[in-house]
Amino acid sequence: MNQIEHIKNNLQGLDALAILAYINNHFGDKAIFSTSFGIEDQVITQMLGELQGNIKLFTLDTGRLFPETYYVWNRTLDKYKLPIQAYYPQAAAVEEMVSLKGPSSFYESVENRKECCFIRKIEPLKRAIKGYQVWITGIRSEQSDNRDQMDFIEWDEVNQIIKIHPIFYWTLEEVENYLKTNFIPYNPLHDKGFPSIGCQPCTRAIQPGDDFRAGRWWWEDKSKKECGLHVTTN
Ligand code: ADX
Ligand code: SF4
Repeated sequence: MNQIEHIKNNLQGLDALAILAYINNHFGDKAIFSTSFGIEDQVITQMLGELQGNIKLFTLDTGRLFPETYYVWNRTLDKYKLPIQAYYPQAAAVEEMVSLKGPSSFYESVENRKECCFIRKIEPLKRAIKGYQVWITGIRSEQSDNRDQMDFIEWDEVNQIIKIHPIFYWTLEEVENYLKTNFIPYNPLHDKGFPSIGCQPCTRAIQPGDDFRAGRWWWEDKSKKECGLHVTTN
């Protein structure tokens, strides 16, 4: 049995806190959690606060985030006192892209958008997870058709790391109830029609009945709506 199958068998049927406890016991400081301070990530941060283990936290500051995201970042630090390592894009790469193409090149083509996501997210991500064995995320299956096809644990071939999504099967309602019950700070944009929050110029509010991710890169075809953070095969 391969390692993923083995861990999957051990995690089967466990709740999210128990999944995190298992990761902490077996991988400790070789496990890292990525937070964008969205509601799902806040649920996991709350659990890591309860656990007081060795799992590390990081965030990717693209330089184009909403002011509300910085607000909830501060409130999260205040409440949980957990260190959150910030990663930034390489200054030279941003300078070159913006000098050549302007500050909003991502609207002009999918190629430009992917270039910006690579410089501001993917390259910093690679530095953030380098040397770790497990990468924890707040992904849920109902967020998109693509994510519905994923599993709560997977081998990330691109980054050569085990990826685990502890609240993969949670519904939006469960996430919202958990936030309320535990008085968890969250991004105020969630109350203004933003279920999924990324960079400010590339995220807008959705209308009732729209897909969760309809407000992300809304000008692009639905099939292209991933920035590449969660592409696991070459
Ligand atoms: S994205 O690929 O479209 O940007 P999404 O916003 O749905 O991702 O978030 C899914 C998960 O990716 C989050 O739960 C979080 O673990 C991780 N993630 C997304 N954006 C960031 C970020 N800026 N910093 C750290 N982690 C992030
Ligand atoms: Fe650039 Fe938009 Fe991608 Fe953010 S989401 S990195 S601004 S293209």
